[in-house]
Amino acid sequence: MRIILLGPPGAGKGTVANQLKATDGSVHISTGDILRNNVKAGTDLGKKAKEYMDKGELVPDQLIMDMMEVRLQEADCAKGFMLDGFPRTIPQADALGKLLEKINIKLDAAINLDIPREVVLDRLTTRRTCNNSACQTIYNVKTNPPKVEGKCDKCGSPVIQRSDETEEAILNRLEVYNKQTAPLIEYYANKGMLKSASKLKLDELVQEVLNKLKN
Ligand code: AP5
Repeated sequence: MRIILLGPPGAGKGTVANQLKATDGSVHISTGDILRNNVKAGTDLGKKAKEYMDKGELVPDQLIMDMMEVRLQEADCAKGFMLDGFPRTIPQADALGKLLEKINIKLDAAINLDIPREVVLDRLTTRRTCNNSACQTIYNVKTNPPKVEGKCDKCGSPVIQRSDETEEAILNRLEVYNKQTAPLIEYYANKGMLKSASKLKLDELVQEVLNKLKN
C-alpha cells in the first residue's frame, strides 16, 4: 500500500502503521521518528529540529522536504509505504505531490484517523516509547504497558516519555495541528483521495482502515 496517515497527535498513526506493516510489508515512515533519531545522533538536522519539537512547533517545511526526498527514494519504499506525520502542511502536501509525480508513484489514499480530542489528550499523557532508535515500540501505561515497568518487551531498552510530552507542548501540538495540518483533510477530500476511520479499539480501527482501502 501507499498511504498517508492523517490525524491529530495521539490519534494512533504510529500504532496503526505498526499493525498494518504486518499485512503486506509496506514500510512505516514516521517523520517524527526520523527527526528524533537525528536529535539523538546530534546531526545538523537534529540540532535544528530540536528547538521546534520541544515546543510542539512544526519543523520548517524545507528541512522536512529535503529529508523526505531522500527517504522516499530508498529501496525499501518499492514495497509500499505508510507516511505517518507527513505531510503536515499544505506546502508539504504540494511538494509531496510534485515529488511523487517526478518519481512516478501514485498514492492509494489519505486515511484520516478521526479520534476525539479528549481521547487523544488522555493517550498522549499516558504514552511511553522505547528509547532505542532501531525499535521505538509505542506503549501506553493504561492500555498497553510493557511487561516489566520501564523496560521494552522487544529489546530491553528503557521505555521513556518523549520530551514533547509536557502538558504545555501537548496543548501546543494540538493547536498547531488544528491550524496547520487539519486543512489537509479538505485538501485530500478535494482530490478524491480521503478516507476516514474512527473506531477507538485498535483491532477494530485497523480492520476499518483495511476495509476502506479495499473500497
Ligand atoms: P510526531 O512524532 O509525528 O508526533 P505526532 O503527529 O504529534 O503524533 P504522535 O506520534 O504524537 O501520535 P500518533 O498519532 O502516532 O499516536 P501513537 O500511535 O503514538 O511529531 C513530533 C514532532 O516532530 C512534531 O511536533 C514536529 O515538531 C516534528 N515533525 C514531525 N513531522 C513533521 C513534519 N512533517 N513537518 C514539520 N514538523 C514535523 O498513539 C498514542 C498513544 O495512544 C500510545 O500510547 C498508544 O499506545 C495509544 N493508542 C493508540 N491507539 C490506541 C487505541 N486504538 N486504543 C488505545 N490506545 C491507543
